[in-house]
Amino acid sequence: MNQLPHTLTTLPRLSLAKLPTPIDKLAKLSQQLGGPRLLVKRDDLTGLATGGNKTRKLEFLIADALQKNADAVITAGGPQSNHCRQTAAAAAIAGLDCHLVLGGPPQPPIGNLLLDQLLGATIHWTPKPQRNARMSELAAAMEADARRPYVIPVGGSNSIGALGYVAAMFELVGQLEEQGRGVDRIFFATSSGGTQAGLVLGARLAGFTGRITAISIDQTPDDHSEEKFLADVCRVANGAAELLDSDQQLTVSDFETNYNYLGAGYGVVGDLERDTIQLLARTEGLLVGPVYTARAFGAMLDQIRHGQFHPGETWLFWHTGDETALHAYADDLVGGTG
Ligand SMILES: Cc1ncc(COP(=O)(O)O)c(C=O)c1O
Repeated sequence: MNQLPHTLTTLPRLSLAKLPTPIDKLAKLSQQLGGPRLLVKRDDLTGLATGGNKTRKLEFLIADALQKNADAVITAGGPQSNHCRQTAAAAAIAGLDCHLVLGGPPQPPIGNLLLDQLLGATIHWTPKPQRNARMSELAAAMEADARRPYVIPVGGSNSIGALGYVAAMFELVGQLEEQGRGVDRIFFATSSGGTQAGLVLGARLAGFTGRITAISIDQTPDDHSEEKFLADVCRVANGAAELLDSDQQLTVSDFETNYNYLGAGYGVVGDLERDTIQLLARTEGLLVGPVYTARAFGAMLDQIRHGQFHPGETWLFWHTGDETALHAYADDLVGGTG
C-alpha cells in the first residue's frame, strides 16, 4: 500500500465512526450463485445513529464546522435521507443545532424521519427543486440573527466530505493486505457522488488497482445529465486532492457509473430491490436498505447472473448503510400483511 498522505492525518477530523469497519464474507450466497467470491465492507456499522457512509464524511465536515466556530448546521435531503439522519446525530454530539431541509410535503414520522426528530433536528419541508435556495435563505436569516450556520450540501458531497472516503480506501487496502486478499471489483451505490469521488481518488493514492463500479440509484437524464454528474464528481475528487496537497488530477474517464438499474426512479421499490433484500436477509442474515444498497447489490447480482465475471474473482460490495429506511417501505416490502 502507498503511504497515507500526511495531510490526511493533520486536517481537522472529529472522531465519530467506529473504524475500521469489518469485511465479512458472503460465503453461502457466493456458493449459491456460483459466481465470484463475495465480500461486504460493513459501513452500515460505522455507528452514529446506526451507521452508514455519511459518518465518514461528517468526521471531516463537522470538524470543519467547529473550526469555523459554527453554532448550527443546515443540510438537505429526501424525507428518508440517511445523510440527514446522520447529520442530526453528528450535530447532537458536537453541540450544534441541526436544521434539515427535506424535499416534499410533510410525511409521517417513520424510518429516518422519526430518527431525525428524536435526534432533535428542526425540519423544514420544501419542494425538492427549491431545497438549495431554502438552505441559503435559512442561513441568511440565521446570520441576520447573529447565529453562525454551516451549510453542508446534499449528501455531504463536497471535497471536504470526500476525504472520508479517501481515508476509507486506505483502510480497505490496509485490511486486504493484512488478510492476504485481493479484490478485483468493488460495487456501491452512488447518488450525490462524494463517496465515489473519495473512493476513486483514494484508490489512486493508495494503489488499489481493482475496478470500481458505482451504481447510480437516482440520476436520470431529466434531472441530472450523466455528463454533468461525472464532471461534478471529478471536480469534487480533484478538490479533495488539492486539500491533501496531492498533485493527482483525475478525469471523468477515471469514473465508472452504471445507470441501468434506475427502475421506476429514486426511492421506488421494485422487484430488484425487494428480491435482493429478501435474498440477503434469508441467506446471510444481512439487511440492506430499500433505496440505495438493495438497488446497488441487486445490480451486482444481475451482473453475476449474466455471467459478467471471470472465474476465481473476488468482488466486494461496499455497504453504505440504509436499513433504517426499511420500516418506511413496509407496504412495498411485505405487502402490509406481515
Ligand atoms: C445509504 C446510502 N448509500 C449511498 C449513498 C450515496 O452516497 P453519495 O451521496 O456520496 O453518492 C447515500 C446517499 O445519500 C446513502 O444514503
